[in-house]
Formats: sequence, C-alpha cells, structure tokens
Amino acid sequence: MLNAVQWHHHQVSRDDRAAQKSQKPCVLWFTGLSGAGKSTLANLVEQNLFAHGYHSFLLDGDNVRHGLNKDLGFSDADRVENIRRIGEVAKLMTDSGLIVLSAFISPFERDRALVRDLFADHEFLEVYVDAPLDVCERRDPKGLYKRARAGQIRDFTGIDSEYQPPSHPDIHIRTDNLSSTQCAERVVQYLKLRGYLK
Ligand code: PPS
Repeated sequence: MLNAVQWHHHQVSRDDRAAQKSQKPCVLWFTGLSGAGKSTLANLVEQNLFAHGYHSFLLDGDNVRHGLNKDLGFSDADRVENIRRIGEVAKLMTDSGLIVLSAFISPFERDRALVRDLFADHEFLEVYVDAPLDVCERRDPKGLYKRARAGQIRDFTGIDSEYQPPSHPDIHIRTDNLSSTQCAERVVQYLKLRGYLK
C-alpha cells in the first residue's frame, strides 16, 4: 500500500534556527536508577547553561508522565513507548535549535540506541548517572524503594525490573563520590572541551 503521508520540507532549516540562537543543539540524555541523581544533575546543568545565555529545555520523567505519557505505566512495553515518544520530542526540540536535557531512567540499552539513531553524530550525548543500587535505596528520596521492597509497587527498576547500564556512555558520572555541584561541573566541562559551549 502506498504511504499517503509525505514529509514537508520547510524554508527555515534546523541549521538556520540553531544559528539564530548561536548555539549547537544537542541532547544530553541522562540515564540511571531511580534516586541516582538524574533530575538533580540535569537541573544544575540547565541552570548553568541558562545563566550563560543558552536556550535549553529539560524533559523530566515524573513531569512527562503527568501529561504526554500519562497513559503509560512501568511494564517493559510501556517503558519502551515512553522512551520512544520522549526521543521524538527531544528530536523536535533540537530541530528547533534547543539544547535538550532529558532525565529518564530509560533502562533498556536498545531503546537508548534507537533514540541515538534519531540524531546526527555528536548530537546525542548519553550521560550515565551512576550510583550503586544500595546507595540509591539508602537515599530513597521518594520512599519508592521501601514501597517496592514491601511489595506495594511492582516492576520497580533495580528491584523487579531490569536496568541495563550503558556500555559506552559519552559521560560517566559517579554521584556517590562527588557532590552534585561537582558532578554538574564535570558535565559542563565536557561540553566546553568538546565545543558544545563557547
Ligand atoms: S522509564 O523507565 O524511563 O520509563 O521511567 P521514567 O519515565 O524515567 O519514570 C521514572 C520515575 O517514575 C517513578 N516511578 C518508578 N520508577 C521506576 N519503576 C517504577 N515501577 C516506578 N513507579 C514510579 C519514580 O519517581 C521515577 O523517578 P526517578 O526520578 O527516576 O526517581
């Protein structure tokens, strides 16, 4: 059957939009266990970018699940769809010239690879926010591990749902050894060294 949906090419290109903002659009894809510090770190990095005049947007797990993805739960299939949609949204946002930060557990390597494939080389940066499960469980900022251990939450990442760590992250941050400010500085430093920031 013929595909009746055609792609439209517009006069203003993604490069034009990026040039108008004088920045290099990219996605910083923070992945890690619940409680590893994804949101904290992404927030601090975004504050730094904002203070230096960059245009950014932070897509955050809990927030997106209140709106766009409120029909999705935490089965493997729902997590796959969650990440697929967020990848497409991140793609639209980088097309608009933004630096996008996304903070989702995104537990499956294959799904993160599929998102990476949406982007040109060097436009997608995987940031592994790494803290051992026992540390995350001790932090337990939302009390979710406790509820998962008590059997009140099913399919909880690290307990009865798998987390596949990145094998080759672009940036690897151990949040159990450094303060959150030091972690954020490392990410910003990486972006500067690689020419993403002036
Ligand atoms: S995923 O795996 O990428 O689709 O998850 P994500 O969209 O990032 O949502 C993770 C946040 O949802 C809360 N939550 C759970 N996390 C993991 N497993 C289960 N079963 C679960 N139920 C609720 C939790 O607050 C996660 O936020 P973070 O910031 O990661 O702690």
